[in-house]
Amino acid sequence: MSSASTATAGVVETDPWLVVENVTVEFPGVRALDGVNFSARAGEVHALMGENGAGKSTLLKVLSGVNRVTDGALWVGGERHVFSNAREALRLGIAIIYQELTLSPNLSVAENLLLGQLPQHYGIVDRKRLRERALAILEELGEGSVHPATKVRDLSIGQQQMIEIGRALLRDARIIAFDEPTSSLSVQETRQLKRIVKRLRDEGRVVLYVTHRMEEVFEMCDAVTVFRDGRHICTHDTMAGLTQDQLVSEMVGRDIEDVYGYRARDTGEVILKVDALEGHGLKAPVSFEVRRGEVFGFFGLVGAGRSELMRLICGVERPKGGEIHFNGRTGRFNSPGDAIRAGIAMCPEDRKSQGIFPVASVTDNLNISCRRFFKRMGLWRHPKRELENTRDYIDKLRIRTPGPRTRISTLSGGNQQKVILARWLSEQIELFVMDEPTRGIDVGARRDIYNLLYDLADQGKAVVVISSDLTEVSAICDRIGVMRNGALVDIVDRSAATPERLLGLALPA
Ligand SMILES: Nc1ncnc2c1ncn2[C@@H]1O[C@H](COP(=O)(O)OP(=O)(O)OP(=O)(O)O)[C@@H](O)[C@H]1O
Ligand SMILES: [Mg+2]
Repeated sequence: MSSASTATAGVVETDPWLVVENVTVEFPGVRALDGVNFSARAGEVHALMGENGAGKSTLLKVLSGVNRVTDGALWVGGERHVFSNAREALRLGIAIIYQELTLSPNLSVAENLLLGQLPQHYGIVDRKRLRERALAILEELGEGSVHPATKVRDLSIGQQQMIEIGRALLRDARIIAFDEPTSSLSVQETRQLKRIVKRLRDEGRVVLYVTHRMEEVFEMCDAVTVFRDGRHICTHDTMAGLTQDQLVSEMVGRDIEDVYGYRARDTGEVILKVDALEGHGLKAPVSFEVRRGEVFGFFGLVGAGRSELMRLICGVERPKGGEIHFNGRTGRFNSPGDAIRAGIAMCPEDRKSQGIFPVASVTDNLNISCRRFFKRMGLWRHPKRELENTRDYIDKLRIRTPGPRTRISTLSGGNQQKVILARWLSEQIELFVMDEPTRGIDVGARRDIYNLLYDLADQGKAVVVISSDLTEVSAICDRIGVMRNGALVDIVDRSAATPERLLGLALPA
């Protein structure tokens, strides 16, 4: 980490090291950034916040030379540069850790670390030295146990992210930007990431940090800039005196009194009864019931078995024992399709890799599985009803897209998530299982999603929510099952479900 020598550790410089001047980025039908001015100092962690589609990722892609600007300039260390290409960005010491990781899964850790960074002006590449350097970096990142020859596809998401950070360090990046880094990390991986971010800051680098998680902003960041609709709304140079409510209203442009907006309701008959279920990922038989009208939460640390349990129930995996009674029928489902026909569906956690057709339109992605309800005389597709359904959800979930026919891959990360969520919500389903429904989704839209879940429950359907967000489960669910190490350890009523209680149950004894 040689660039540390150029700055005094822990001292925030008053002159900004990075200045983005009047930047505009246009895509067909969208102005993703509109005359944005922004600056960040060395030795600070600067949060970038804003709703889905506000332009955060676009700004990072501008810095890294991936996105072309229509207008604007870039200053690094007091010198003016034109935005040009990825190589120029590297030369300026800018590295981005993207929302979607960019490693090559089939190459080794060492190859990924060193890819593209073999010094080009040397006649001969000193592989031995580079390899040693890679090892040293792995050690520094707390990944000393990862063998450099391991294929990247065999690493966890968190480890992959560490390799990305390692690449940035090998390049001596002075400006390191993270795009929602913790959205798919475990609790332990998140802790490790936070330590590294802090160190990067103390070494005098500029750290830009995009996140939708408020607690991270208040815990880790020294300054925050808010974007809305491609515009710079405000920058707070210090977090002192700033409240969460103020940030939220700056982000969404309106006051949201209570993001969770819980509504009490009466529950009906038992719709799902799981009796001594056993199978992959469970270390003890699991029993519980869910009633119509209920929002039932599952909390636990990553790896506690929540998703595995739901996969057993929803026909993705075969149970090894126990019984499932659902809506008057007894028996297991042989496939997810079988379960959907019976009226129970699971919206997977990894919605993007498991569910997106990147070259297809928003409306095709949204209606693909509920098409059968929209058939004309049971035969032909019904484009008009599909469009109506799409417009309905664009409206309800505030999906930011130029139109229903826009290719989904051009939407921002969070807006793609909303489309896939809408696909599941348009199914004619009696019990929805939602795995991390608000991951990557901004605060304003979270509220819309919670409202939709309450609406489903009001209609007498049932909702099971798997969430790692403690505040979320305790705020939106009627009852919460807590899982730990492959077992259901307790079911807690809403009135008793304080975050402390839930966490106490979920943590290893
Ligand atoms: N390659 C592209 N082609 C067309 N439009 C794009 C492209 N990339 C981004 N956009 C549009 O630019 C706008 C800003 O997107 P961006 O990805 O920067 O949002 P974001 O703030 O990162 O949101 P999120 O929180 O959902 O990740 C969105 O309306 C998006 O649809
Ligand atoms: Mg983004």
